[in-house]
Amino acid sequence: MKGGVMAEVAKEEVFKKGLEGVVAGDSSICSVQGDVGKLYYRGYSIGDLAANCSFEEVTYLLLYTRLPTKQELKAFRKTLVGQMKLPKHVLAVLKKLPKETTPMEALRTGISALSVKEPEALGRPVEEQLPICVNLIAKFPAVVAAYHRIRNGQKPVSPKKSMGYAANFLYLLNGRAPTPEEESVVDADFVLHAEHSFNASTFAVRVTVSTLSDMYSAMTTGIGVLKGPLHGGAAQEVMVMLEKIDNPDKVDSFVRDALVKHEKIMGIGHRIYKVYDPRAKIIKARVEALSRQKGDTRWYTMLVKIEEIMAREKHLYPNVDFYSAVVYKLLGLPIDMYSPMFAIARSAGWSAHAVEQYSDNRLIRPVDHYVGPIDLQFVPINERH
Ligand code: COA
Repeated sequence: MKGGVMAEVAKEEVFKKGLEGVVAGDSSICSVQGDVGKLYYRGYSIGDLAANCSFEEVTYLLLYTRLPTKQELKAFRKTLVGQMKLPKHVLAVLKKLPKETTPMEALRTGISALSVKEPEALGRPVEEQLPICVNLIAKFPAVVAAYHRIRNGQKPVSPKKSMGYAANFLYLLNGRAPTPEEESVVDADFVLHAEHSFNASTFAVRVTVSTLSDMYSAMTTGIGVLKGPLHGGAAQEVMVMLEKIDNPDKVDSFVRDALVKHEKIMGIGHRIYKVYDPRAKIIKARVEALSRQKGDTRWYTMLVKIEEIMAREKHLYPNVDFYSAVVYKLLGLPIDMYSPMFAIARSAGWSAHAVEQYSDNRLIRPVDHYVGPIDLQFVPINERH
């Protein structure tokens, strides 16, 4: 490197690593109050929604800004379930994927493949985008379940009109109707994961929409960002950790060892929640009940022990993925299906944000704080060594 000086950049611009605390837009979809551990979807507390609403009801609320009437919910469920069947070309793509393809990669590919024969949503009025979002939300569980069956050498099955969204997902996955407990815990898990303001994947979805790309690209963006272990991949990592610990008696030494080595304990901590994540509180109670029902409390016991040590030693608390991991384990899902479960639910939140962004759009294009050199002396390629 010859010549050149370091660029002088005005320092008065505020830069926060990881954009921590940076306000990136107005939104009326979700309020996360991290200092007091509260979460609201469109003004309703997550506790009320999780205790009283199905995923379909919450999805309606997120998309159409208000809770549905009984009739509206019935019609919405019918539309949603009616669109859970996958087109032939998407099934053909899923069948051609190499065996090593993970379900999250299959989901990203399946949703992308869906776009080629469907109308593009962006550039159209909001009323025309919403049905496209509903179609996409219906297709997420269908792609995940179909790929699960395909990679296990089973034939994909078609959705049942008589079942709701969560039950249909389990039916498409296992080829049998779920028990009421299985349906209820998956439905609650979907409600808890449906939305969470400007998290990494949702913000990425909004960036995609802001370029006036299409809704399918926005969803594949979301899936790609959610995949990372610091975001939607955490539940998977929680189970990897639990399987490594293996025995409640070994929790203490495992966690202490990790803390000494400055390693992170997955499913613990959150950028926004500085107290207990309200979603974790709700899913923890469900996991305790499910564990007793299934006669397998080993995983739950380990998590409670980890939680206690982390609270005592680091003042860090579980996030939603900590206990969700055990829901998926007790349902018999393979570990690589955990992130797709999150993606299925979050397709609702992503859709609401995509429509909101489009309704009052301006290209999202921040600036960086350049710290490299400028005015270097150019050396022709033959003279470089
Ligand atoms: N285990 C151990 N220590 C943790 C921790 C964890 N899970 N999460 C945060 N910390 C510690 C960090 O080591 C750091 O300590 P230090 O200041 O002594 O270096 C401090 O807490 C701040 O952590 P940081 O990673 O900078 O916070 P963040 O706001 O950038 O990250 C998460 C938030 C969620 C990415 C982070 O808590 C994490 O990696 N958790 C595990 C992954 C996870 O569960 N993700 C799902 C989120 S819903």
